[in-house]
Amino acid sequence: MIHDDLGEALALLSEHADVVASRPSDASAPTWAVRRGWDESLLALDDDALALAETDPAGVLARHAHPSLSDAMGRAQRLITRYASQRMASGARDEPHVKARKRAQLEILVEAARERFDDVPRFVDYGAGHGHLTRALLHALEVEAIGIDWTAESVTRARELAGDRGPTFVHADASTESRLLRGGELLVGLHPCGALGDAIVEHAITHRAHVMMVSCCFQKVPGDTRVFLSKAAKGFAVPQHALGLANLAPESFDGSGDAVDKRRRRRDRMALRFALEARGVVLEPGAEARGVNKDRVRHGLDDIATLAFAARRLSPASPEELADATAKADRVHASVARFSLPRSALGRVLEIAIVLDRAQRLEEAGHQVEVTPLFSPRISPRNLGLFARAR
Ligand SMILES: C[S@@+](CC[C@H](N)C(=O)[O-])C[C@H]1O[C@@H](n2cnc3c(N)ncnc32)[C@H](O)[C@@H]1O
Repeated sequence: MIHDDLGEALALLSEHADVVASRPSDASAPTWAVRRGWDESLLALDDDALALAETDPAGVLARHAHPSLSDAMGRAQRLITRYASQRMASGARDEPHVKARKRAQLEILVEAARERFDDVPRFVDYGAGHGHLTRALLHALEVEAIGIDWTAESVTRARELAGDRGPTFVHADASTESRLLRGGELLVGLHPCGALGDAIVEHAITHRAHVMMVSCCFQKVPGDTRVFLSKAAKGFAVPQHALGLANLAPESFDGSGDAVDKRRRRRDRMALRFALEARGVVLEPGAEARGVNKDRVRHGLDDIATLAFAARRLSPASPEELADATAKADRVHASVARFSLPRSALGRVLEIAIVLDRAQRLEEAGHQVEVTPLFSPRISPRNLGLFARAR
């Protein structure tokens, strides 16, 4: 299953490498869309279909589009559906300093660890952050527990929260720190950044350790490409700049699990860009929001324009300037949103491919592996659990 699904994911990514590599940013049709004859079907999607495609781009394109687009997206959808979960947590665990969505992740991971790894002598949490998972697992498994993180402030906070009888927290680069491993332990990682996820896999192989990991932040790798790990992937590589695609969330949710209007936020950012450019400001891609905290984008264009103009020592934008910029952004965004859909669908395929590749690498080294979606994207869009038992 893992081998076959990895093969299908890599086939889809290879056939659409140009789609993965280039992000639509203006109203003109991308070369890859014109070359395949997809541009008109994409532009013809009505607003209702576009709204649905925000959460299910592969599903909508599989039904609506050009035959070869429909075929490719149908394949993507079948794969994505196999790795989808709508599971929510019961919310029983209550720690006031841990956010609700993190508590839900902990609850489900603790249950998964109890089911699969209740016999391990100890575990090591890679990229432990504030140690929420480390504490929760120690409580559940009652074995020796170590958390490693390379951010000093996180280690200090983790020690404070843990108190005297908690896990041991170590300040170190976990990707090179293997002195702590004796073999046979469980290596855990909840959203370990890109390269750290690969390091967990390699350490588990070297030390015949078990793995429980939910991967994340695939773009955080050194160098300009990520070369896949398994023999089955045969040196398949993805440019670093395209890896962020695997970290996209078709739909996102705020801390309390409410859906965020991403389309509106993107439109507002684009309008901000046009308003600044109309004043003669020259901007690198993505630079329009300099001076604006990411969370402020939800307050709307007036608010972010006030901050972004002030950060550049410009006089405030007038209502007319903002209205012109909004009208232009509405026109351009309508095309960009449609042209972005195939790439969004392939983003989840890329994420699945990376996680399956890690699993396949472990299987090739003799581990017994399982990849399963653990929770709803409402809890976190990075929800693919990789479990591996050393044999
Ligand atoms: C997204 S956070 C997840 C934190 C924690 N596992 C959780 O779920 O709350 C990733 C953490 O990994 C840490 N990290 C990333 N690469 C690391 C490395 N090579 N060695 C140690 N820590 C690392 C970061 O400092 C950060 O605390």
